[in-house]
Amino acid sequence: MIRLDGVSYAYPDTVRPVLENVSLDIGRGTIAGILGASGAGKTTLAKIIAGFIPHVDGGELSGTVSVEGQGMGDLQLAEAVSRVGLVIQNPFNQISGARYTVREEIAFGLENFGVARPEMQDRVGEVADLLNLGPLLDRSPYELSGGQQQLVAIASMIVLRTPVLVMDEPTSQLDPAGTRMVFDVLSTLRGAGITVVIFEHKLELLHQHADVLYVLADRSIVAAGDPTDILADAHLAEWHIGSTRYTRVARAAQKRGLLAGLRHLPVSLEQAVAVFADDGGAR
Ligand SMILES: Nc1ncnc2c1ncn2[C@@H]1O[C@H](COP(=O)(O)OP(=O)(O)OP(=O)(O)O)[C@@H](O)[C@H]1O
Ligand SMILES: [Mg+2]
Repeated sequence: MIRLDGVSYAYPDTVRPVLENVSLDIGRGTIAGILGASGAGKTTLAKIIAGFIPHVDGGELSGTVSVEGQGMGDLQLAEAVSRVGLVIQNPFNQISGARYTVREEIAFGLENFGVARPEMQDRVGEVADLLNLGPLLDRSPYELSGGQQQLVAIASMIVLRTPVLVMDEPTSQLDPAGTRMVFDVLSTLRGAGITVVIFEHKLELLHQHADVLYVLADRSIVAAGDPTDILADAHLAEWHIGSTRYTRVARAAQKRGLLAGLRHLPVSLEQAVAVFADDGGAR
């Protein structure tokens, strides 16, 4: 579905590549989480998958990027945009500035895609329900809070029904309830066969919702696999992506002599409960 083979990239007028030899292979209908410290290259990778690099940002891109078997480098930007939706990191920048209401803002991309008006209204209504935006539809996009703008930015991409949705830190402005809602929407998208690539720092939610995790560090993908394996990996600290609170509690317990001999640190609450229950006999 989404394949990157040996992708390297340097921004215009820079010498040092930001990404080197990145390879990924993400299947259809997968929720793939990509983790990386600040400055690791997450936004850069998001733009590469969506074809914004090199179409918009320019620079030196090598290797191959394909979506549904089609090389993104061979497509015009308009064709790339119809395959991959990109929710950009700063929701304020995603707002078109060309529309007066949230309803029109969400429909903006559909107008560009030439979708007929009745279908447009149905699709906007559907995505507004999904993200609880109904009460905001007649408001100006500029009157909204940062979190509300972020939901509108997500809605305006979901509504396009592109086969791939790339989300660059889509919950950064949201409170815990809004964040959970966005993560729950991922499952709905997966059910519709949409492939989601989400760049996020919220490890516990990623662990619950992602099918696979990738770690971006030192300009490349340094780990890929099952979310539990990745988040319990012995190298976790070296990747500077943090750890779940359950892992941290277990580490603190080990420092006090508990959980001796435990080979895999817990990542989720359920795993932590099991691990501490097993350890009960030792005290
Ligand atoms: N337009 C640009 N020109 C030159 N260098 C850039 C440009 N945009 C980003 N960079 C550099 O590329 C590197 C990766 O940046 P990127 O924004 O992809 O990281 P990130 O993981 O998304 O960071 P954050 O967590 O802060 O969003 C950084 O060193 C950054 O300074
Ligand atoms: Mg970023």
